[in-house]
Amino acid sequence: MAAMLMARLVSTVLTATVMVGGATLALAAGDAASGKKVFKKCKQCHTLEVGKTKIGPSLAGVVGRRPGTVEGFKYSQAMIDFGAAGNVWDEATLDVYLTKPRNLVKKTKMAFPGLKKESDRADLIAYLAQF
Ligand code: HEC
Repeated sequence: MAAMLMARLVSTVLTATVMVGGATLALAAGDAASGKKVFKKCKQCHTLEVGKTKIGPSLAGVVGRRPGTVEGFKYSQAMIDFGAAGNVWDEATLDVYLTKPRNLVKKTKMAFPGLKKESDRADLIAYLAQF
C-alpha cells in the first residue's frame, strides 16, 4: 500500500516537472503574434512573399535556408561567403545576426543596427518560421 502511494506520488511529481519543462520551451520558442509587430522594423526592406525583393531579399522560407542564396538578389560578398562556409539560418544563427548583424557577418550590407531585446528576437524568429 505504501509502495503504491509512493509510486503515485512519484508519477505526479514527474508529470508536473514535464509540464513546467514544456512551458519553458514554449516561452523560449517565441510568440509569433508578437513577432508580427516586430517585423514592422524589417518591412521597409524585406517582404515575406517568395521572389519579392525590396532593398533586401525576400525572407519567405528564411528559417532553415542557407545565407545568401535567394536567386536574383545581389548579396554582399560577405553574405555569400558566410553561406558558402556552411552556415544555415537556424534559430540560433538568426538570433545572433538579428542582435547586431555586423557582429556575425562583418561586411553585410544590411543597414540595420539590431534588436536588443531577446524576446523581440525570439518572437520575430517564431513569426518568420511561418513563411
Ligand atoms: C535598411 C534595410 C534593411 C532592414 C531594415 C532590414 N534588413 Fe535584412 N537585409 C537587408 C539587406 C540589404 C540584406 C542583404 C545583406 C547582404 O547581402 O550582406 C539583408 C539580409 C537579411 C538576411 C539574410 C537573408 C539571406 O537570404 O541570406 C536576413 C535573415 C535578414 N536580412 C533579416 C532581417 C530582419 C529580420 C529584419 C528586421 C528586424 C531586417 N533584416 C531588417 C536590408 C535590411
